[in-house]
Amino acid sequence: MATAVEGVDLNTPPTPELAATLRKALWDNQVLCIRGQSIGPGAYLTAISAFGEPQIRPEIPHVDGFPAVTTLSSEDRDTKGDGKRLVAGATWHSDDSFMARPSALTALYGIVVPDEGGDTQYANMYAAYEALPEDKRRHLDTLQVVHTMKPAREGLGRTRSIDPAILAQRPPSTHPLIRTHPETGRKALYISRNRMDHIVGMDRAEGHRLIDELVEHAIQPQFTYRHKWRQGDIVIWDNRCLMHKANGDYPEGARRFMQRIIVAGEVPV
Ligand code: SIN
Repeated sequence: MATAVEGVDLNTPPTPELAATLRKALWDNQVLCIRGQSIGPGAYLTAISAFGEPQIRPEIPHVDGFPAVTTLSSEDRDTKGDGKRLVAGATWHSDDSFMARPSALTALYGIVVPDEGGDTQYANMYAAYEALPEDKRRHLDTLQVVHTMKPAREGLGRTRSIDPAILAQRPPSTHPLIRTHPETGRKALYISRNRMDHIVGMDRAEGHRLIDELVEHAIQPQFTYRHKWRQGDIVIWDNRCLMHKANGDYPEGARRFMQRIIVAGEVPV
């Protein structure tokens, strides 16, 4: 899990051959880091378009003139809530799981990275699924889960307060607990803990216990990778077979500034 490439300059749009090589590296490794970039938002969008269609998320701050290039910063505050510091994505999740077609991929470009801390962690949900006993896998294969944009749990860390008008446009979505990756054909656990309201046909608390148990299983060291950012890294990951988590553990006053692009996905099956 996870691979890094050097010597690619994304100021030049990837040729079809390079794009195919990078996509294969991503399908094979789930996390792809392209090191040493120094690019503007236009070139970044062009490069990520080689992986799929960039999506717009109006509730997240973005680069002027580039609504699909959103920003994550150590200066972020929960402006629609209590104004306190916000570390987006600080609990294990898969991006946009509450949508009918959740994003397939996410790209994050490290423009300013702290000297220490601020790593992004990943859990390989293919490997976590494959390591489960067969009878458990057979049972999980039958389950469907209702995902909501509104956080499903108390105490899993701060999330951005969401404008009720945006919430109203995002009805719950029901997805399988085990999904099959459209490119690789492999099955993976599909978990985004704070968006999983309930498992269909199961008592809510019982469903949450099962989800927690699966998260604990999936974040064991043999299934995880921790990305230590270098300035200029563009990391692209596959939300269809990973969970990930941000860490806000860098010292007070240290800066972290990232640009993020999400890529359209399909209905999970
Ligand atoms: C995210 O959850 O998309 C953000 C990850 C990070 O900032 O490390």
